[in-house]
Amino acid sequence: MSELLAVENLSVFYGANAQAVEDVSFSVAPGTVVALLGANGAGKSSIMKAVAGLIRGRGAMRFDGERIETLAARHRVARGIVYVPEGRQIVGELTVRENLVLGGYALAGQERRRRLDMVLGLFPEIADKANGGAWRLSGGEQQMLAIGRGLMAGPRLLLLDEPSLGLAPLLVRRVFDRLAAIRDEGDLAILLVEQNLAMTMRLASEIHFLRGGRLIGHKRAADLEDEAARQQAVDTYLGAAAAE
Ligand SMILES: Nc1ncnc2c1ncn2[C@@H]1O[C@H](COP(=O)(O)OP(=O)(O)OP(=O)(O)O)[C@@H](O)[C@H]1O
Ligand SMILES: [Mg+2]
Repeated sequence: MSELLAVENLSVFYGANAQAVEDVSFSVAPGTVVALLGANGAGKSSIMKAVAGLIRGRGAMRFDGERIETLAARHRVARGIVYVPEGRQIVGELTVRENLVLGGYALAGQERRRRLDMVLGLFPEIADKANGGAWRLSGGEQQMLAIGRGLMAGPRLLLLDEPSLGLAPLLVRRVFDRLAAIRDEGDLAILLVEQNLAMTMRLASEIHFLRGGRLIGHKRAADLEDEAARQQAVDTYLGAAAAE
């Protein structure tokens, strides 16, 4: 069993007639980053929530070879499936440090401290403000805090839902480069949801394109290294979707 996560024929419905995801299958190998790319409403967050166990889908899901589709969200977190939702969702009334500690609440004290040091080392921008209120952070710093909180939980698979949303390209690059460093260090796998292909390529080795709830294409990042190939993928898989 070489896959960490295997999703087979996942469908998600919101009510009887609203199908958001249709028959989607993909897998994530340990230590790799796989991206789902698609326009607004393509079904990206629905897939993430179904993997995290926050909504129920149809189809089979395996994590580390074991079926997980009937497990409650908290049991999936305990196995190492950690979701960093779109829109940051940090707790503004708490300090930066308290937000991080909250992310690692299930860990023993010593491991929690080790992870806290790791996260603060990874994001010095928020380390400087660790004892201040999280509400004071800029948008980019809040995103770092949200990712840092996800890392505190000791994930084996991090589900990152549009981490670049609302961030300046330079900041996205910085955050992605740090995530790449973590990926390279150990066997953390990431399922990344994005809309921007160029940014996604900094981190992901495999890219699935999603439109109208269905997977319509698959590329390895290595196949998209030249500009022309990238532009063709955008035109084929994203251009038409964006115009819909
Ligand atoms: N709670 C819900 N109830 C009903 N319909 C929903 C719900 N959440 C999402 N949908 C619908 O399901 C479809 C997919 O939504 P989803 O949030 O998965 O898209 P997305 O690809 O994450 O989009 P975005 O890039 O805007 O975040 C959309 O048509 C959306 O309107
Ligand atoms: Mg979304």
